Amino acid sequence: MWNDLISFLSLKLGLRFSEHDNGFVIQKLKSRMTELSIPSPAEYKTYIVTHASELSFLNGHLAVSVTHFFRNPLVFEYLMEELLPEIIRRNILNHDRVLRVWSAGCATGEEAYSVAVACREVVKRHGFQVTISIIATDIDHTALERGRKGIYQPASLDNVRYGFINKYFKKEKEWFEVMDELKSVVHFSPYDLFDPNTYAPPESMFGDFDMVLCRNVLIYYDDQHQKVIMEKLRRATAVNGFLILGEAESLDLGMRGVFAGENSRLPIFRRIK
Ligand SMILES: C[S@@+](CC[C@H](N)C(=O)[O-])C[C@H]1O[C@@H](n2cnc3c(N)ncnc32)[C@H](O)[C@@H]1O
Repeated sequence: MWNDLISFLSLKLGLRFSEHDNGFVIQKLKSRMTELSIPSPAEYKTYIVTHASELSFLNGHLAVSVTHFFRNPLVFEYLMEELLPEIIRRNILNHDRVLRVWSAGCATGEEAYSVAVACREVVKRHGFQVTISIIATDIDHTALERGRKGIYQPASLDNVRYGFINKYFKKEKEWFEVMDELKSVVHFSPYDLFDPNTYAPPESMFGDFDMVLCRNVLIYYDDQHQKVIMEKLRRATAVNGFLILGEAESLDLGMRGVFAGENSRLPIFRRIK
């Protein structure tokens, strides 16, 4: 019964659930069905078919939002050693003193704050005079609220260098809170990557980001939906800017002439035209 409902939703939402995700998805569906007092998956399917708004509600609630700080640490090492100094130097030469980053599908904010740490470190190390602007977006409003609060369990910080923990986090009883120095450069905002009316989050005005991270989002969608997201990411990335995907994700074939791989070991791509 659950399989039928999950297949139906995968088709409707373009989502690709792995065996591993099914338990999580069933939990989410069960709690929604309890809220609506609907007893069975079959009846819930009928409800969805007859209530158009239910599908958009589920769209924001079924994606898995598991994440942690410095996920794939090598990416962040590469950012600090290579990409960020290059981008900032180039911007300064072009009289542009703002470093513009988009964390698309940021979940509860760990990725955006990890980038904020990397940016702060690079700026301090090189003495750059620039403003850091990180826009962190997701469709999951609850996740965004948690990101704004910036409070995390110790396990989420397992990949964070010891020195960074003392510098950027306040240790509370059982948890860690991100310091204001990071909170002040990360702006959380709801945004659906399938929004047909905009090329980038409205807060960014016109996109043109120096760096766009969209990691571990594409994997949840079928090919057709991945193409729509990739087109949005292409438009939002400045020429010579960088797109960063998740470890298990690769560039859509149609984008091969637009982005070039930056490093054979990492899913980092430079927009070349
Ligand atoms: C697994 S998390 C990835 C978090 C982080 N980027 C990382 O790599 O650790 C996937 C996130 O993508 C978000 N997401 C899924 N579909 C989306 C869409 N259409 N628009 C915006 N965010 C979406 C989900 O809500 C979820 O928070």
